[in-house]
Amino acid sequence: MDFDLSEEHVAVQEASRDFAQNDLLPGVITRDNEQKFDPALIKKMGELGFLGMMVKPEYGGGGMDTLSYVIAMEEISKVDASASVIMSVNNSLVCWGLQIYGNEDQKQKYLVPLATGSVIGAFCLSEPEAGSDATSQHTTAIDAGDHYLLNGTKNWITNGNSSSICLVIAHTHPEKGHKGINAFIVEKGTEGFVVGKKEDKMGIRASDTHTLMFTDVKVSRENRIGDDGFGFKFAMSTLNGGRIGIAAQALGIASGAFELSLKYAQERKTFGKPISEHQAIQFKLSEMATRIEAARLLVYKAARLKDQGKDYIKAAAMAKLYASDVAMWVTTEAVQIHGGYGYVKEYHVERHMRDAKITQIYEGTSEIQKLVIARELLK
Ligand code: CAA
Repeated sequence: MDFDLSEEHVAVQEASRDFAQNDLLPGVITRDNEQKFDPALIKKMGELGFLGMMVKPEYGGGGMDTLSYVIAMEEISKVDASASVIMSVNNSLVCWGLQIYGNEDQKQKYLVPLATGSVIGAFCLSEPEAGSDATSQHTTAIDAGDHYLLNGTKNWITNGNSSSICLVIAHTHPEKGHKGINAFIVEKGTEGFVVGKKEDKMGIRASDTHTLMFTDVKVSRENRIGDDGFGFKFAMSTLNGGRIGIAAQALGIASGAFELSLKYAQERKTFGKPISEHQAIQFKLSEMATRIEAARLLVYKAARLKDQGKDYIKAAAMAKLYASDVAMWVTTEAVQIHGGYGYVKEYHVERHMRDAKITQIYEGTSEIQKLVIARELLK
């Protein structure tokens, strides 16, 4: 077992750290306040290769491994978790899903622009009545010969407005349960496809999260991903990898808050000495660092298993479960260490605390991760 990163991985870490510090940090508080992500930054993320990291070069991607991806996710999440969720959905849910399960025509037409970042994608599984219970899809896609007619509503869709290409999960044969579900590639601008309400969120506020509505939207048969009835398996397999990305995001949020706390604790003085010299603060810093290190090992392990072609379902769920709890705990302690300063926006840690919460919810709540882990243990 080698705990050192390779030269390539160190280069990815440095490039993503530079981008985060130079390009993301300056406007991060304003973007959070205004709930807007700058399209120029998405363009730059694409140019730097952050939007299609694991996509093969012949489809316009970086051809990198999952470990590179999680390293970049951590660095970017240290500064801006809104940027990293845009990146994560595009990389692990949309590009990865298309690369593994799309056919050649779908890859040429959709994966190439997505991987180069000339457009971004969205993954549309959740519905008003289908969050954790993902089988309970109410959106329908009725077979109408050369096309399907899509009707329904999707909720909490990351990149809901800014995306051009959406992967939409829908029931084609509701009587067949999860075996009657399919996944479709749906382009924005198709008649009957409407972007609805933008959510006013607690965290990751600069990323756009919307309701999407479909009324008799014609989706060509060629845009179905995989064989008839493959949609639920598609969603589940894609989410297995997505969970590694969100675990890396949680790790980054925790690391970012920790680094700020370590620095602050050495600058801020109380009772005549830096607060880092008080045991109460030292104990907090020690525990934060230890939990972060443990989370990093779980995240890297899940990424490694995926890269080695081994089963990573349990490892991904464990990484997300643990790293998201670490993110919530560490960021709360970071605010505590900063005291009154921690409660105001200028010091960043309150944003990290707000951003951390979603990592325990999206791409499968912590409760769903426990269910996934238990099912794997009891197999
Ligand atoms: N990997 C691969 N296949 C899986 C799987 C997994 N993790 N979990 C289930 N499956 C397969 C099963 O093997 C089964 O297939 P077979 O019939 O061929 O055996 C099929 O899927 C149905 O499985 P279950 O009977 O276990 O289904 P279920 O209804 O009991 O529960 C669940 C499944 C694990 C609870 C699932 O519904 C789930 O993961 N829910 C959470 C959904 C989720 O993560 N949503 C996130 C939304 S996306 C998002 O947040 C994106 C964003 O914008 C950031």
